[in-house]
Amino acid sequence: MKILLLGSNGQVGWELQRSLAPLGEVVALDRSGAPGLCGDLSRMDELAAGVRRLAPDVIVNAAAYTAVDKAESEPELAHAINAGAVGRLAAEAAALGAWLVHYSTDYVFDGSGGQPWREDAATAPLSVYGRTKLAGEEAIRASGCRHLILRTSWVYAARGGNFARTMLRLATERERLTVIADQTGAPTGADLIADVSAHALRSAMRDANLSGTYHLAAAGETSWHGYARFVIEEARALGIALKATDIAAIPTSDYPTPARRPLNSRLDTTRLRQRFGLALPDWRPGVRRMLREVLQ
Ligand SMILES: NC(=O)c1ccc[n+]([C@@H]2O[C@H](COP(=O)([O-])OP(=O)(O)OC[C@H]3O[C@@H](n4cnc5c(N)ncnc54)[C@H](OP(=O)(O)O)[C@@H]3O)[C@@H](O)[C@H]2O)c1
Repeated sequence: MKILLLGSNGQVGWELQRSLAPLGEVVALDRSGAPGLCGDLSRMDELAAGVRRLAPDVIVNAAAYTAVDKAESEPELAHAINAGAVGRLAAEAAALGAWLVHYSTDYVFDGSGGQPWREDAATAPLSVYGRTKLAGEEAIRASGCRHLILRTSWVYAARGGNFARTMLRLATERERLTVIADQTGAPTGADLIADVSAHALRSAMRDANLSGTYHLAAAGETSWHGYARFVIEEARALGIALKATDIAAIPTSDYPTPARRPLNSRLDTTRLRQRFGLALPDWRPGVRRMLREVLQ
């Protein structure tokens, strides 16, 4: 089996290189590509030509325009990468009879209410990023290709910058941190997303009826404030000296950003767990493991 992985340098893409390896030959491309293969989603004519030459059995797209706030001032670019290019990839997958694995986000919802979102809940994105990600999903569904669209949330990885590392840095610099406490979700490791993707793909390749949209997030829930407190307590338990003693809870309204974010980012993962026979662990062990990796 030949798998084309796009976005191999991102949080999820990096872990997918490892998780997909046992399934077959993985051709992993970051934005700069490889000789004869374009990996840049802003150059879709070249990328599509490479896809046709390679003729993969599966395309896994971990590349995306993920700068949520910047997207508010760059809507055309965000749309081109997250929707236009994704639609082209889906058309290539359909023409080849290949599977497309793609990632989306809880930001397709408006974040109202307090219940976890199911896959069939009405979408109503609050931001340019959310709208472009939703348009990408719709383009895949319209293409007719067999697909797994995996909506996830609050992604972290040991590699690269993330919320936990930002909190650790701030906690070494300041005595008081203010962190949003009225947005709720589940921090989800890129390693978990990649492993679940590989397992789900293996099942899907044996049963095309599994094609569809699924929610993939760690179990349990917290707020950004709860997440920050957990990170700081765990770091202290590992012997890291931190200045911060006061981690204050603030409402979203006290931390204005260019893009509006959903208050309720809970994702109901029942469909994925039941249809693929998979378990999703609580968010804490994964965060703890990532902290050990970056701090020890
Ligand atoms: N991060 C989150 O909290 C979160 C939450 C929900 C859903 N998701 C979704 O999960 C997926 C993976 O996200 P992630 O956290 O792994 O994101 P990430 O770490 O920001 O990685 C995204 C990757 O896409 C690449 N990229 C951007 N523009 C590109 C282009 N024109 N051509 C080729 N590659 C391009 C980036 O390349 P460079 O490194 O060269 O910029 C980067 O390596 C995305 O679909 C995202 O929308 C993420």
